[in-house]
This record gives sequence, C-alpha cells and structure tokens, in this order.
Amino acid sequence: MRIAVFGGDGIGPEVTGEAVRVLQALGLDNLELVEGDVGGAAYRKHGNPLPPETLAIAKSVDAILFGSVGDFGLDHLERHLRPEQAILGLRKELGLFANLRPATVFPGLEDLTTLRPEVARQIDLLIIRELNGDVYFGEKAIRVLPDGRRQGYDIMSYAEDEVRRIAHVGFKAAQGRRKKLCSVDKANVLETSQLWRDVVIEVSAEYPDVELSHMYVDNAAMQLVKNPGQFDVVVTGNMFGDILSDQASMCVGSIGLLASAALAEGTMGLYEPIHGSAPDIAGKDLANPMAAILSAAMMLRHSFGREADAVRIEAAVAKALAAGVRGGDLGGNAGTREIGDAVLANL
Ligand code: IPM
Ligand code: MG
Repeated sequence: MRIAVFGGDGIGPEVTGEAVRVLQALGLDNLELVEGDVGGAAYRKHGNPLPPETLAIAKSVDAILFGSVGDFGLDHLERHLRPEQAILGLRKELGLFANLRPATVFPGLEDLTTLRPEVARQIDLLIIRELNGDVYFGEKAIRVLPDGRRQGYDIMSYAEDEVRRIAHVGFKAAQGRRKKLCSVDKANVLETSQLWRDVVIEVSAEYPDVELSHMYVDNAAMQLVKNPGQFDVVVTGNMFGDILSDQASMCVGSIGLLASAALAEGTMGLYEPIHGSAPDIAGKDLANPMAAILSAAMMLRHSFGREADAVRIEAAVAKALAAGVRGGDLGGNAGTREIGDAVLANL
C-alpha cells in the first residue's frame, strides 16, 4: 500500500496529518507513505505548483491522500502557476475522471445545518462529478477584440466517450444504493448538455434496474435545498458538479465533514476533503480533520478493497461526533489534534 501524502496549502497539512495518524493506527503491515509538495507550497519552494518530482511520486503510488490547495497570496500569478493547477493537473495527468462526493447527515447534527432538521435528516446522496473535461479543460484565454475590447472565453465541451464512462460510474453506483440516478445538465440551453443527456439515455439501456431522471442544473440547485431526500445518485459535469457539491455540503451541516474520491479506471484514486485551504485558520489547530480522515476511509474502500477498515474509521468519526466532539465548523471548540485523538480513541 504505497500512498502519497500531499498536504498542500493552508490547513491541508494539518488535516492530512490526522488522517495519516488514523491510517497508522490500523496497524496495516504494508503501509508505505511518501510525501510530496503541491500547490502554493510547491510554488514557493520549486516555482511550480505541480513539480515533476511530485508528479513522478503520484504516478508511482497506489493512491493519493490530498489536503488542499489555494493561496490568495498567489492569485496574481499566471494561471498555469497558480496553486489550483496542482489538483487540476493531477486529475488530468492521472486520468482521475470520476469524482465521488457523498453527503449524509451524521446523527445528532441535524440541528447544525441551515436547513430545517426534518429536511436535512432525509439527505443521503452521492454526487458523481466528471473531472477531466468540460469548461475546466477547454481552450481558454482573455483576448483583445479588433475593436480593442477585452474578451474572456472558456470553451465548454464533452465528447461522447467522456460522457459514457462517467454515466457508467453513475449507474453502477446507483445499483449499489437505492437504484435512482438523476443526471443534471442544462440541455435547455447548452448543446454540450444535449449531447450529455442523449448519451446518458443511451447508456441507461444497459441498466434497466436503475430509475433514470434528468434535471436542469438551476432546478437541481433549488431541489437540493427544497427536498434533498429525493436524490440518491446525481451524475453531472465538472462545472455543475463543483457548484452542487459545495451546496450539498452545507445542506448536511458542515463542509468540514465531507470526503471525496477522484477515481481513474482501475483502483488508482486521489482522496481529499472537499473543503479548501482555509488560510484564515491555517496553522492554528482550529481545522476539523474529520473530512480528511473520512477521505482516508474512502481510500481504503475504493483503492484497497478494505471495506471493513473503511467502516471502522467511519464509525469512529460518527462515535466522536455522537459524544459531542465538535470542531469550530460545527460551533464547537475542539482543536485539530484533539479531534484526531477523539477519533483514534474510538477506533
Ligand atoms: C473542488 C475545488 C477545485 C475545483 C478547485 C480548487 C480548482 O473547488 O475540488 O471542488 O474547482 O474543482
Ligand atoms: Mg469546488
């Protein structure tokens, strides 16, 4: 089990540090950890947010535990040098095309969400976001038009094979859950979305046991706060998935609790909390490491087939929460290390 640990910026190193402690506590006999620099931290050290050494490590491991990237102090840099390029580059270079972002409310936290508790309690959904295409990776630039006006553009596109492979991930995930798949697009306006919808419908023929529905992204954003219990698996493109997954995270109480997986074909995966680098609280022992710890659980499940260990970690987090351990994101005052200790104690 060769695992890369890329802490990155802000609170990333602190929270992945706690996830590593939890992994080490499992007593896995073949665990090998390799650290590498990413993001703003890598830029400041090597002049590159994704140095070749880091990419080489990434290509040599079985899975990656990722912290976060983002550094407001570097926002003036040319785009290819900005911290975010580390995660975008890893997704692309390693073919990590399927982003799994589950959202459920931990028992006892219903009152901490901004939704009414009886609405929040219903949430048990999985957002599957495509990660290798869309407007994120199309041609983009700021150009000067003949009349001298500046114009920014980013091309949105999806090829049918890209839609097909993420649709399969969506249908398979639904088969393992409540057998409902909602494909989110903007087919009333965008041709990219029309093709997306056509291809998802084609693929659905192979999954007669899954109930497929379609929703425009604006309506999906509304339904997510109106009646989130209606969703089982949601499959969508890179941009819509970015936005809806942040929204879903707030619906369950805190972004500090949500883990994610970015999977390639096969078992390679990158696992990261969905929260960002939170520079305002970095280095102060204030960040909640639970999302990072839960990301390590996802890693054991998806890259190493160790379901029992994954469940053990998830149960330890749930128990710590049930015992009242609350980070600042949940209105409490437990520190990063203290939360890590609480999870370890419950393991
Ligand atoms: C996410 C983040 C990234 C994204 C940023 C950091 C590039 O918001 O993983 O959701 O937009 O994909
Ligand atoms: Mg995002």
